[in-house]
Amino acid sequence: MNEKQRLESTQVESSDKKSSKDYSQYFQAVYQPPSLKDAKKRGKEEVNYLEGEFSIPDDMLEIGKGKKFLIRTYGCQMNEHDTEIMAGIFMQMGYEPTDKAENADIVLLNTCAIRENAENKVFGEIGHLKPLKIKNPDLLIGVCGCMSQEESVVNKILQKHPFIDMIFGTHNIHRLPHIVKEAMFSKEMVIEVWSKEGDIIENLPKVRKGDIKGWVNIMYGCDKFCTYCIVPYTRGKERSRRPEDIIEEVRHLARQGYKEITLLGQNVNAYGKDFADTKYGLGDLMEELRKIDIPRIRFTTSHPRDFDDHLIDVLAKGGNLMEHIHLPVQSGSSAVLKLMARKYTRESYLELVRKMKERIPNASFTTDIIVGFPNETDEQFEETLSLYREVEFDSAYTFIYSPREGTPAAGMVDNISMEVKKERLQRLNAVVNELSAKKNLAYQDQIVEVLVEGESKNNPEVLAGYTSKNKLVNFKGPKSAIGQIVKVKITQAKTWSLDGEMIEEAVEVN
Ligand code: SAH
Ligand code: SF4
Ligand code: F3S
Repeated sequence: MNEKQRLESTQVESSDKKSSKDYSQYFQAVYQPPSLKDAKKRGKEEVNYLEGEFSIPDDMLEIGKGKKFLIRTYGCQMNEHDTEIMAGIFMQMGYEPTDKAENADIVLLNTCAIRENAENKVFGEIGHLKPLKIKNPDLLIGVCGCMSQEESVVNKILQKHPFIDMIFGTHNIHRLPHIVKEAMFSKEMVIEVWSKEGDIIENLPKVRKGDIKGWVNIMYGCDKFCTYCIVPYTRGKERSRRPEDIIEEVRHLARQGYKEITLLGQNVNAYGKDFADTKYGLGDLMEELRKIDIPRIRFTTSHPRDFDDHLIDVLAKGGNLMEHIHLPVQSGSSAVLKLMARKYTRESYLELVRKMKERIPNASFTTDIIVGFPNETDEQFEETLSLYREVEFDSAYTFIYSPREGTPAAGMVDNISMEVKKERLQRLNAVVNELSAKKNLAYQDQIVEVLVEGESKNNPEVLAGYTSKNKLVNFKGPKSAIGQIVKVKITQAKTWSLDGEMIEEAVEVN
């Protein structure tokens, strides 16, 4: 099924709750450009939770009738989940999905600001859309997501790409109907970016990307302010959703037949720290979620600093809590970690991993690493390599440091050339590949449980899915296995994936 067919066959998920809460304040016009300086502020004010039913104003309900929308997504899982929400809102406005920009009446670019190359991709796409806009002036083009939160990006679009119709940010996606209506009738570019985060709005409609695995936001924003990172500016302060809302959403997905959920947050271990009235953390939440009848629960992303013993104890109980921990380390050098303001050392990271391995012996570990942080020395880089080997990660996302305007690290003098940084990335990737291959080799002739997601990307004759430890497995099996957890015998271990043969259908879990 292609993306279009899938979306067409999907029901928009909306809440069963009814309430008289008034959402009209969310549909009032404002012109607001972004400010990273304002976005940096962290206030003590309490988070408001809007729990009522989200409804689209009557005059916007049919605005998309007979029209098509396309959203291109460039960022992380949270960004993708925002796309699912915006797709839900579009469909409630009467729009139909399309996967071709040529057929669309509205195209949104849901952007990512994490590194310069992510931003360049978006500017490239804006360039590609220009001829379409010239051919069809009624086409509406919007830029949303994390890049919209940066004033430099908004200014660049205003100056160089004035044909863009609307720009809005990460805090006001629920205002999509209003923004679209404004853009339809306005001759000016509609810019509405809130630099300060808004309320937590429950019950927004969603069209999920699949019906096997689902994402569930548990918190928004980040207060860690790692010196290289733009996220605390683009996503605002840490705000946790109420446990009862999360539990209800997971139950709802379980009832719908979803087999796996991934709890999302930039720093899920800080979950609950912002609750003024109760002491409740990720460990407590996982303890409740593990009782729900859903086969697999994952979470991402963990910050080593906030990974507490209670959470480790809960994860050690296993069951539907998957034994895979993504624990970004960024660097193996305590001096670099200090400059990054990660607030842990090489030693404390290693100690945390040791503790986890002791209590969750089957756990697999993956990580994120940045090479070429300003003035990183060869010795410091070597420390990253040695830490990688010491932990024996299963795999890693590796990046060359990219200066982000407005962050402290962007102001640091950097004497390391790009050539050296590229060479370090290559050396690191060689170690990552070597260990990944070694780890995978241990699976040879083993039997693993795979949640079958569908046909393999490269070969429709083969099925693909992931093990509990998040290993990609390609294997021959009947299409009826899609959406099931099946047993597969590994016949060949490759560097990045495993090949196998299905030996048993529908494993009973829990
Ligand atoms: N909240 C997550 C990370 C989100 S961003 C965490 O703290 O783990 C995903 C990854 O992008 C980060 O872990 C980091 O490795 C990388 N990253 C973030 N900012 C970057 C930058 N300016 N340059 C290069 N990589 C960066
Ligand atoms: Fe960025 Fe650090 Fe927050 Fe992760 S924890 S989003 S790297 S500031
Ligand atoms: Fe990118 Fe924003 Fe996610 S910067 S990584 S889309 S939070």
